[in-house]
Amino acid sequence: MIWNKTWKRKKRPREPEDVKIMSAGFQFKPRIIGFSCNWCCYAGADLAGVSRYQYPPYVRLVRLMCSGRVDISFVLKAFTGGADGVFIGGCWPGECHYITEGNYDALGMVYVGKAILEHIGLSPERLRLEWVSASEGIRFAEVMNDFAKKLTKLGPLGTGEGAHQARVRIGLEAATRLVPYIRLAMAERLKLSRSEQEYVRFFGSQEGKALIRQTILEELEKQEIALLLAKTPLSTGQIAERLGLSGSQVSKQLIGLSRRGLIRYDGEAKSFALA
Ligand code: FES
Repeated sequence: MIWNKTWKRKKRPREPEDVKIMSAGFQFKPRIIGFSCNWCCYAGADLAGVSRYQYPPYVRLVRLMCSGRVDISFVLKAFTGGADGVFIGGCWPGECHYITEGNYDALGMVYVGKAILEHIGLSPERLRLEWVSASEGIRFAEVMNDFAKKLTKLGPLGTGEGAHQARVRIGLEAATRLVPYIRLAMAERLKLSRSEQEYVRFFGSQEGKALIRQTILEELEKQEIALLLAKTPLSTGQIAERLGLSGSQVSKQLIGLSRRGLIRYDGEAKSFALA
């Protein structure tokens, strides 16, 4: 029998086929993008492979020199491109191979990234940071298996959380546009002394949460409103409904945008539009 050698790789079906259809015998497989530092986590992944520890084949690993190189834009791009989960793997605290100790920057970025995900209606569990050393092949496999299990339980991005796809799209687009500002805010307002305990303490505290809200999420809300108004004029209530925000939150951001001269109010149409 002669086999036809010209075959085409089948494209993985996207939504809504991605939704679990257990009864029909299909199982949702999350798309996972992983960013690993060259010196520890990637070597750990390598060891897992050599040692034949099993972990999901649908994890796509990207090797970077240090976890501190993982920019918030990489995370947003991965989710915008259809990833259901993003993994970041770095050296254990105090063991980063660079004097900049980039793994602490990764830690701060992940706290901010989780806050953004939560703000746009996605589970913060979709973004995961782990420390894995070069000798921890088994730990790498265990972490990836656990992450894949949790993502499978969560379901496809947004659909699993019951979030409106349009809401998620506008949130990711607004956050992507805000990346230069987020980088600056993280460098100037959210950089702490190099200690894991300090990061965990600060970002877990009310003070840390309030600072993220004030410096990043409030700007994100303004950007989301501007994106909505770029499409069509809307009233405060309509904006609140589309973004899942309270009327007072929207009014506050509208005042801010109006003071900057970015939007105007049309009294006749009773709606706001871009200036
Ligand atoms: Fe591994 Fe920096 S070199 S986290």
